[in-house]
Amino acid sequence: MSRAVAVAHPNIALAKYWGKRARPGNFPAVPSLSVTLDGMSTRTEVVFDAALGADELVLGGRAAPRDDGARVAELLDRVRAASGERRFARVTSANDFPTGSGLASSASGFAALALAAVAAAGLEWPESRVSDLARRGSASAARSVFGGFVELLAGAESGSEEDVLAARPVAASDALDLRVLACVVTEQPKDESSRAGMRLTAERSPYYATWLESSPRTFESMKHALGARDFARVGELAEQSALAMHACALAAGVIYLRGVSLELWQRVRELRAAGLRAYATADAGPHVKVLVQGADAARAKRELEAQPGVLRVIDSGVGAGARLIEGPP
Ligand code: PMV
Repeated sequence: MSRAVAVAHPNIALAKYWGKRARPGNFPAVPSLSVTLDGMSTRTEVVFDAALGADELVLGGRAAPRDDGARVAELLDRVRAASGERRFARVTSANDFPTGSGLASSASGFAALALAAVAAAGLEWPESRVSDLARRGSASAARSVFGGFVELLAGAESGSEEDVLAARPVAASDALDLRVLACVVTEQPKDESSRAGMRLTAERSPYYATWLESSPRTFESMKHALGARDFARVGELAEQSALAMHACALAAGVIYLRGVSLELWQRVRELRAAGLRAYATADAGPHVKVLVQGADAARAKRELEAQPGVLRVIDSGVGAGARLIEGPP
């Protein structure tokens, strides 16, 4: 048996990725910029075992849904093709936060899986190649391979499925004194996967073309604001990016935010009007993540915990990239 275990953290996009190129290989249609979070993590073990007749996936102690299993098997097929490993693998993965509800479990999941699978197969790949592999499972996962502030550019409109597209770090972890307060509003999985939501948005949203055209500008402004260490500007742009993404999806009937999410968003605005520098963002789920500076984190957390409908608040700083915690000798 060949075995490796990796840990990865989720990331939150400050400039969102939403939409794929119309070509095989899971290439994003827009560039994105994220921060890796240290407050949540996924641990994934990969064991190639001659006794197995198929790849097996256990998520949080349970056999995984068929769709997840198929995406994992595809990634393992790539690792087998590159390494000459022929055995099937048992993949056991667990998150210490809600799964599949827009807390970016697929990002940390595919980053940890890619790293563990590559190591268990005996490959010594640079991080960029691991990031490209993770992207094929979930584009946001390409970013979780790295720590700090990370970008993933859009893929070209056409080309080969084998073209490499990896994320890369753009600023050190201390570029901003940032805390991210993830307000958990349900422990249930979301209704619509980001994959399905993106497809519907591209097919049905009257605003999709505008989104494709405007997000590269938001991304560039975000990079600039980060380079200038301008927390308030990063926060404003993060809100804009998230609202534009949700508006675009909403117009296609893809609704991730709930009443409680909007109430929270409003609360963040009130706190801001009262002098607390806080900015909201949300992904393909109802949780709202609030960006604050270190000195404001404790007060902001208390305020958010007091908001009706908030089950708990997970406080994260800027996290490290994916890493192996056990590997082949
Ligand atoms: O990589 P996916 O399929 O989990 O999609 C991620 C989409 C968002 O989380 C909404 C935005 C982002 O850039 O992470």
